[in-house]
Amino acid sequence: MQITVVVNGREYVRDVEPRLLLVHFLRDHLGLTGTHWGCDTSNCGVCVVHLDGVPVKSCTVLAVMADGQDVRTVEGLAAGPELDPVQQGFVACHGLQCGFCTSGMMMTARWLLDTVADPSDEDIRAALAGQLCRCTGYENIVRSIRHAAALEAGS
Ligand code: FES
Ligand code: FES
Repeated sequence: MQITVVVNGREYVRDVEPRLLLVHFLRDHLGLTGTHWGCDTSNCGVCVVHLDGVPVKSCTVLAVMADGQDVRTVEGLAAGPELDPVQQGFVACHGLQCGFCTSGMMMTARWLLDTVADPSDEDIRAALAGQLCRCTGYENIVRSIRHAAALEAGS
C-alpha cells in the first residue's frame, strides 16, 4: 500500500506492506533510528512517538494507520543546534544511563509539557507509567522533566 506520512515536518511517500509496524517504518524505511524497539509486547515504551500530537507506542501502530498523519520522533525535538528544553533537562539532571529508554521518555515528557504547564511529580510519574527504565530508578528522569518545565516557565 502507498502511504503519505509527514515525519518531523517532512513528507514521505512510501510503498509498505500492510503488516509493517510504524516503529519499523521509521527505523528501517526512513532511517530514523532514534526511536527504539525493545519488547514486541507493548510493555517497555522505548518506541514512543507522537502521532498527530499524541504519544503512541509505535510498535502497536501499523505504518498504514499513520497514512495522512503527522509523526514526531526524537529526531524532531531539537530545533537545529538548539536542544528542546526536555533534552536540556535530561542533560542537566542526568536523566539517562544506557539511554535505551531515553527517546521514548523524552517524547512522553514533551507531550506532557505541551499538555500540562507545571506538572507535579505525580503527573510526571503517571505520564511515564507505561514506560520502563532498567537503569535510573526513575528519580533523575522525574527531575529532568521538572527541570524542563522550569526552563519553559523561565525560572
Ligand atoms: Fe516495547 Fe514498543 S517496543 S512497547
Ligand atoms: Fe537505561 Fe533507561 S537509561 S533503560
